[in-house]
Amino acid sequence: MAEDLNIITGNKTEQYRSLIPQIKGLLEGETDLVANLANVAAALKEQFGWLWVGFYVVKNNELVVGPFQGPVACTRIKKGKGVCGTSWAEAKTIIVPDVEKFPGHIACSSLSRSEIVVPVIRHHEVVAVFDADSAEPDQFDTTDQRFLEEIVNLIPF
Ligand code: SME
Repeated sequence: MAEDLNIITGNKTEQYRSLIPQIKGLLEGETDLVANLANVAAALKEQFGWLWVGFYVVKNNELVVGPFQGPVACTRIKKGKGVCGTSWAEAKTIIVPDVEKFPGHIACSSLSRSEIVVPVIRHHEVVAVFDADSAEPDQFDTTDQRFLEEIVNLIPF
C-alpha cells in the first residue's frame, strides 16, 4: 500500500471508516508485533491528533510501554493500577471523560484531560492495552470504543 495515510475530515464514524481499511493495509502480510503496534499508533495519531496514542504490553505480569506517539510516558504499570491497569484487570474498555475524577489515574502527562483504554484480548487473556489520551475533556465515547476494539482485534499477536 502507499505509505502516505489518507487523512479525512468528517465525523468520528467517517474518520474511523476511512482509517480502518488503511490500517488493514498496513498490517497485511506483516507479523512483527513492534512494527504493527507502531503503525497502528502512528495512523491513529495522524488521523485524530490525540495527545498520546499507544500500547502497553503485558510482560512478566506487568504492563510495559510499547510503541506510542506523544510525550514520554511511564514505563511500567501494575495490574489494577491507573486506567491501564484497571482495564487489564477487568478485561474491559474504560472511558474516562475527566482524568481528575478517575481514582488512581496515573498522570503521565499533565496535559491529559480525558482517556480511553482498550484491552487487547487473545485466547481469553489480556496481552496488551491500547491507550489514547486527549488534551481536551470528554473526547472519547462508545463510538471510539466500538472502532478501537475493532482495530485492536486486527493486530496479530
Ligand atoms: N493514564 C494512564 C497511564 C498511561 S499514560 O496516560 C500514557 C493510566 O492511568 O493508566
